[in-house]
Amino acid sequence: MSREKITTAKLLAMKERGEKIAALTAYECLFARVLDEAGVDVILVGDSLGMVFAGYETTLRVTMDQMLYHTKIVADSVEHALVVGDMPFMSFQVNTEAALRNAGRFLQEAGARAVKVEGGEKIADRVRRMVDAGIPVMGHLGLTPQSIHQFGGYGVRAKGEAEARKLLHDAEVLEQAGVFSLVLEKIPGPLAKEVSEKIRVPTIGIGAGPHCDGQILVTQDLLGLFERFRPKFVRRYAELGKAAREACAAYVGDVREGGFPSIEESF
Ligand code: KIV
Repeated sequence: MSREKITTAKLLAMKERGEKIAALTAYECLFARVLDEAGVDVILVGDSLGMVFAGYETTLRVTMDQMLYHTKIVADSVEHALVVGDMPFMSFQVNTEAALRNAGRFLQEAGARAVKVEGGEKIADRVRRMVDAGIPVMGHLGLTPQSIHQFGGYGVRAKGEAEARKLLHDAEVLEQAGVFSLVLEKIPGPLAKEVSEKIRVPTIGIGAGPHCDGQILVTQDLLGLFERFRPKFVRRYAELGKAAREACAAYVGDVREGGFPSIEESF
C-alpha cells in the first residue's frame, strides 16, 4: 500500500499546527529510500551534491544535466516525501524564460514535485512566473552557496542590522511571489525566529537556530560521511565514514590473509 504523500499544502498545515518539518538531502536511491522510510517530510536533491558527491570545491560547477539525473533517481525512489530539485547556478539567473523552462524540466523530466532557488527580491519575478505555471517553489536566503565568491567565505550572514532588514524584506517579497517554503541558511537564530513569525509559509533552517518551522541538514554531514569540514550547526547522528573505513580495512585484511571468502561463501 502506498503511504500518504507530503504536499506543499500539508507543509503549510504543519506550520499552522506548530508541527516541525524534517528535511534532508539525497542524491541517489539508497539514501532516498532510507530517508523516506525514516519519515523525512522533504527530500531536497541539493546542488550540494557538487561538493558532497562529486568532490568539487563549491556548488558552482553543478549543471542542469547533473541535477536532472540525480533528481530523477531520487524522485523514482521516494513514495512519501516531497522531492524538491535544487536549481543550479546559471539555470535561473540569466532570464525569466530560461528560469521557467529549466524549472519545468525538474517536474517534467525528473519527476520532482517542487524546485528550490537561491536569492531574494532580484529573482522574485522568476519565482512568480514559475508559481503561475504551477511549479511549487522553495526559496533560499542567508548563506546562499551559489554566491560564495561574492560573500568571500562561508561565514554567518545577516549579522548586521542592514543585512538583517534586507533579509526580512526579501522573505516577505518571496512569500508574495508565491514560495511555499523558505530555507534560511546560517543566519542568527533571533533573525530566523523573526522571519518565521512574520511569514505564513514554513521556514526550514540550516544553521539558523531552533525557531524555524523545520530543519534541514545534508545527510552525509549528519551521518559522518562528509568529513572535509564540519560546520558548527551539524549534529552527527552516526560515524559512518569511520565505520566504512574500518569495514573496508577488515575486508582488505581478510583478502590478504586468505580469510575471505570462506568455503561457506563459495560454490
Ligand atoms: O544544496 C543543498 O543541499 C542545500 C541545503 C543545504 C539547504 O541547499
